[in-house]
Amino acid sequence: MDIVLSGIRPTGNLHLGNYFGALRNFVKIQSSYDCYFFIADLHSLTTHPHPTDFHANVKNILAEYLAAGLDPDKCALFIQSDVPEVSELFVLLNMLAYKGELERTAAFKDKVRKNSDNVNAGLLTYPVLMASDILIQRANWVPVGKDQDQHLEMARVYAKRFNNFYGVEVFPEPRAMDFGGGSIKVPGLDGSGKMGKSEGNGIFLIDDEKTITKKVMRAVTDNGPQTPDSEKPEVIQNLFTLLELVSTADTVEYFDQKWKDCSIRYGDLKKQLATDICKLTLPIRDRIMEISKDDAYLGKVVREGAEKARANASITLKAAKKAIGFRSL
Ligand code: TRP
Repeated sequence: MDIVLSGIRPTGNLHLGNYFGALRNFVKIQSSYDCYFFIADLHSLTTHPHPTDFHANVKNILAEYLAAGLDPDKCALFIQSDVPEVSELFVLLNMLAYKGELERTAAFKDKVRKNSDNVNAGLLTYPVLMASDILIQRANWVPVGKDQDQHLEMARVYAKRFNNFYGVEVFPEPRAMDFGGGSIKVPGLDGSGKMGKSEGNGIFLIDDEKTITKKVMRAVTDNGPQTPDSEKPEVIQNLFTLLELVSTADTVEYFDQKWKDCSIRYGDLKKQLATDICKLTLPIRDRIMEISKDDAYLGKVVREGAEKARANASITLKAAKKAIGFRSL
């Protein structure tokens, strides 16, 4: 069975963008592939989170993954730092990573531009650590968003470079996994495009009914259609895109018709949107609350996840070290 692997940095609660872009698909494929899903806590250290937030964020994501339907009996759910083999491979791969190519990485250049007073070496070698995550599990498929394409490409480069350098086939080349229908871009509520963590833009799985309703009712709109059958401006299309994700085809059709004949009332559309979002997320929210209370269960999940991840990782690490020339005396 092919191996699928994905990591997420624990930097906050999950929103609908995370859910539709990734999580929902992970749940769908968890029985059809050998899946490794992990929380990239080491990666998040590049921004120096407070120790308390650091721990809380790791726990939150784990609870949210489980609440959304990831089943620890079907996939390995683990925390990156619980698998020390990743860090060991990271050291080894660093010897094959060139400073120049790391400096040319788009994400790194962006970080330097925006945050020139905290350019630590962890930021520079971020792609090597990510390659270690992927290659240590010999992943065949990595579901990544556009922003991570270049990092995945670098993982491929390091896999090939290692294999060529030592004349071995230790690392398969990981490929980007597409869930079909292209990757869904979930729009935000502030008209700024993509849903993210910024204030007033995102709806989180942990949001309660009141919060969701308030956020949706405040979503940016315009003055309404002026002529029949006109094209929807981006802010309105965004609301329809969200509606398409959470509502029935009939509901979408109903409001689309009202748009076309200029009788649409955005208040009605938003009320319906809020109701249908709630229908999807409130049961998940209930489970998040329930699971978060159960530290014994959470602990068991990540212990077993790490055990599986370490067993698989140690096979790779052993082969890599043998190729390099490590021998016991
Ligand atoms: N860099 C990814 C992000 O910020 C997170 C990540 C770390 C990752 N290691 C990974 C994703 C390995 C896929 C595979 O989104």
